[in-house]
Amino acid sequence: MKKSIVLGLSVLILSCKSQNPIDNASKQGLVVNKAMVVSARVEASKIGTQIMQEGGNAFDAMVATELALAVAYPYAGNLGGGGFMVYRKADGSSGTLDYREKAPLAATKDMFQDKDGNVIPGKSTQTALAIGVPGTIAGIFAVHDKLGSLPIAQILQPVIELAERGVVVTAKQAERLQDYHDVLNKYNGAASVLSKTYKEKDTIKYPALANTLRRIVKNGRDEFYKGETAKILTSYLKEKGAIITMEDLASYQAKWRDPLGFKYKDLTIISMAPPSSGGICLAQIFGMIEPFNLSKMGHNNPESIQVIVEAERRAYADRNYFLGDPDFVKIPLKELMDPAYLKERMDSFDPSTATLSSDVKQGDVAYNESMETTHYSIVDQFGNAVSATTTLNAGYGSKFYCEELGFLLNNEMDDFSSKAGVPNMFGLVGNEANSIAPGKRMLSSMTPTIVEKNGKLFMVVGSPGGSTIITSVLQTILNVYEYDYSMQASVNAARFHHQWLPDLITFEPNTFSTNTLETLKNKGYLINEKTTPVIGKVDAVLVLPNGHLEGGADFRGDDAAVGF
Ligand code: GLY
Repeated sequence: MKKSIVLGLSVLILSCKSQNPIDNASKQGLVVNKAMVVSARVEASKIGTQIMQEGGNAFDAMVATELALAVAYPYAGNLGGGGFMVYRKADGSSGTLDYREKAPLAATKDMFQDKDGNVIPGKSTQTALAIGVPGTIAGIFAVHDKLGSLPIAQILQPVIELAERGVVVTAKQAERLQDYHDVLNKYNGAASVLSKTYKEKDTIKYPALANTLRRIVKNGRDEFYKGETAKILTSYLKEKGAIITMEDLASYQAKWRDPLGFKYKDLTIISMAPPSSGGICLAQIFGMIEPFNLSKMGHNNPESIQVIVEAERRAYADRNYFLGDPDFVKIPLKELMDPAYLKERMDSFDPSTATLSSDVKQGDVAYNESMETTHYSIVDQFGNAVSATTTLNAGYGSKFYCEELGFLLNNEMDDFSSKAGVPNMFGLVGNEANSIAPGKRMLSSMTPTIVEKNGKLFMVVGSPGGSTIITSVLQTILNVYEYDYSMQASVNAARFHHQWLPDLITFEPNTFSTNTLETLKNKGYLINEKTTPVIGKVDAVLVLPNGHLEGGADFRGDDAAVGF
């Protein structure tokens, strides 16, 4: 871990190098007095912080951070994807923005199936048909129009400068680019920016992206959805076999939605409603575990793991059956969050033995690991908070990189259920509620979340990780609240995950004791013992009792907290 004070900018920076999560349970992260951004790259956290130092608020910083990640972290940061934002203003009011991608108007329910109704492997992830209509630019302009304070040109100036100056490749990024080299080369040719061979400390410049951003500054939101950028994009997409048209782009709208709020003891948790499953799943799991004394059971011990896993199993069974785009399907939100229903769901829990997922269906109302999304948390000097998660879906999305515009396109169509009961790339098994329809939003697991304690801002939190996002956010909140961990220690702590199907508990590699795993196995739990990647990559801010802010920047990536 490296802590440095950059005198010229008067900002504090803490970026995370590799740490052993078990050894760091008491470590504190960066602490600042007033304002902070925690994101996947130090360049993005610095730019967001700079905007607040110039007098901007958390919403201006959100716009800057979102697009700085598109430059510095093209693995998941994007112009060609979408996301969700949850905010809480200093006056205590809150809201959420849905800038999730949409299915193109020419999309059909069975577009990823063959004539016999079988899902064609790879069609929803590795072809241009996988690309959903991007929402990011609509999202940042919606935020700026409603809540921003500085001119868009001022906010995007440092982002454009970063794209021109270039981004220094980190060791982790060099490894990722190496891993994806062949596939990026296959889709885009050897001359493409991201197909070249890079090593640590090389600099990648993005002049085409800088030009696109300049046009967006000049012409506003419509540049992306109706202007020259839209024309270049649709002609590129057509050439690659995608079905997104000018009409799709012109009709895209980001949507302000009511937050999904619920109580856990004396916390009020504000999260994202459908089309993200994050908030509702989190509410169900918290509701099911609340009657148990987790702090007494102990952190990450077999007893507490078992309670959490059984709640996760039941929540994901409901997720996969009931949830989809609320503009297209009716979701029984109230019933799914009803305390009596959640209590009844846990009635079948027996502490002496594992419940089998084959015995758990959706209630009577009704994987693969990944880090290919990115989250950032912001608190400003006025007391406003922003929690935003944004994605291209897979790492580098569909891998289609529009050279002329300088950005990658998503493969978010895989987040639909290509066919009821057939798992997607996260192993999530969807149902009719999440089937494909023209103009529909695909179900997400993104869980940008803000927590209040005794009516005051307490925590801003979120994570990438596909289906593991929800369980990573859950454990981070529990680590602080039930186990008194610092923000950084909560983020560092080892994680586990269960999602109903496949019926497995996945543990982060080499982080849980053999004794813990054996105890659970003896109760009948199936443990994923293959070498598994890390679970989640949480970036969070905690408001300390004295009002100062502590950052939790995940050591699993190049994540960094910056503030003043
Ligand atoms: N693409 C991952 C998610 O939205 O859950």
